[in-house]
Amino acid sequence: MNRIRINSTEGKSLLVLGGTVNDIVPLLPGRGLFIITDTNVSRLYGNSFPVGEVLIVEAGERSKTMETVEGLCRKLLEAGADRSSFILGFGGGVVCDIAGMVASVYMRGVRHAFVSTTLLSQVDASIGGKTGVNLGEYKNIIGTFRQPEFVLCDHSMLRTLPEEEFRSGLGELFKHGIIRDRNLFFDISASAEILAERDPAVLGDLILRAVRIKAAVVRRDPLEKGPRRILNFGHTFGHVLETYHRIPHGLAVAQGMLIAAELSVWKGEMPHAELRLLQVALENAGMIGGYPLPSGVVSMIARDKKSESGSVNFVLLSSVGKAVIRKLSITGLQEFVNYYTEKDSQSQQ
Ligand code: GLY
Repeated sequence: MNRIRINSTEGKSLLVLGGTVNDIVPLLPGRGLFIITDTNVSRLYGNSFPVGEVLIVEAGERSKTMETVEGLCRKLLEAGADRSSFILGFGGGVVCDIAGMVASVYMRGVRHAFVSTTLLSQVDASIGGKTGVNLGEYKNIIGTFRQPEFVLCDHSMLRTLPEEEFRSGLGELFKHGIIRDRNLFFDISASAEILAERDPAVLGDLILRAVRIKAAVVRRDPLEKGPRRILNFGHTFGHVLETYHRIPHGLAVAQGMLIAAELSVWKGEMPHAELRLLQVALENAGMIGGYPLPSGVVSMIARDKKSESGSVNFVLLSSVGKAVIRKLSITGLQEFVNYYTEKDSQSQQ
């Protein structure tokens, strides 16, 4: 078991990697515990829940709405939750986003923590204090920053993940290597077959290295004023693809990372050979699926939260393993999208 601490100006968070629920029971209050989970997780792991009131939401991205947050707050009130109550989000990325949001706003904020059950949430969503829900087709446009007191990542829970969910998590795992650690990128690429067996030890090592990267970034910039933006690599195009094609988040991010890598080459930031390296690795891992960009993608990006007065802070690569942040004008981005969609449609013919 490994423990990583995120001590930042915005709060402290303890990350427990490779443990089990028994390891976090001492960190929970004796009473006033409310567990927020979803239909899938309660079916699979309901027997492992600590003692507390259980609130269940429908599994899936569609639950990430203000209506769900409001409904949960109503249930908390009816069940007598007060300012001393403690919320434990028990699930994957959707549950962590919703439970974190509820904990941020219920009675102006109550204590909270997560048991993270998917690869996507163990390497990303449960860590770093971002909470959020969607507004129509705009992802995570309503949200807060609030560090969970602790996050437990029990890697043995990854065995029950459906294949598509697992590959979705691989997208976010890859991302950490691609932005910060070339060796991690090569190790994930080389482990693709073994990873499919979901061996907790093999996964645990790669997850630990990814989480160390994320923790270091969040410690430095908990509110994403600057350097934390690198964690959004692949997300600008990825969010559009996720909403338009209704594909899992990490798969959309993988496509988005490739497009962002193309943009890096187009802007002269990265040599073409690095793009090929990335392409081959993601293809071998079964992550690339031929999802074209929809028309109007640039106006969607212009309304995304990463955009500021006519320009967008874009994460590019100078090589695999090194992300850089550049301000791009919306018109420049449109030129690239014209070039990219033309090229993409030719390669589909
Ligand atoms: N998922 C990106 C971040 O936490 O900043």
